[in-house]
Amino acid sequence: KQFMVINGPNLNRLGKREPAVYGHKTLEDLEGQLLEAARELGVGITCVQSNHEGRLIDAIHEAADQYSGIIINPGAFTHYSYAIRDAIASVDLPVIEVHISNVHTREEFRHHSVIAPVTKGQIVGLGLYGYVMALTALVKGED
Ligand code: DQA
Repeated sequence: KQFMVINGPNLNRLGKREPAVYGHKTLEDLEGQLLEAARELGVGITCVQSNHEGRLIDAIHEAADQYSGIIINPGAFTHYSYAIRDAIASVDLPVIEVHISNVHTREEFRHHSVIAPVTKGQIVGLGLYGYVMALTALVKGED
């Protein structure tokens, strides 16, 4: 089984970007940690990061046929991208939305996700470990 891990805008700056909020680990560290978890779970992952909405939509479409699920952190697009929401609704795959920070303790505009209603579930505020939890749930959880 193969899973797609999609990180949206500004997540290429993990480790340097607001470390008090997002921690000191880099995107490379995150993807390495996920590859390790995938190996232990006996599945494969493909990691995509882009700052461009259209590229994120393309990655969701690419996952449609060959993949078993998607883990996505849409970054700030979470709060307003109906195009990403529609892309997720267009594929018949389980999708888990991950946020590194606890968006509910932050600015009001981060409290609402336009993505959440078309996902299987959401993991918020548990740091990079949230991605490992999402992958584990997709592999071991019930459909
Ligand atoms: C984020 C939360 C978003 O509000 C923010 O725009 C991000 C990162 C998170 O992982 O905590 O870019 O998705």
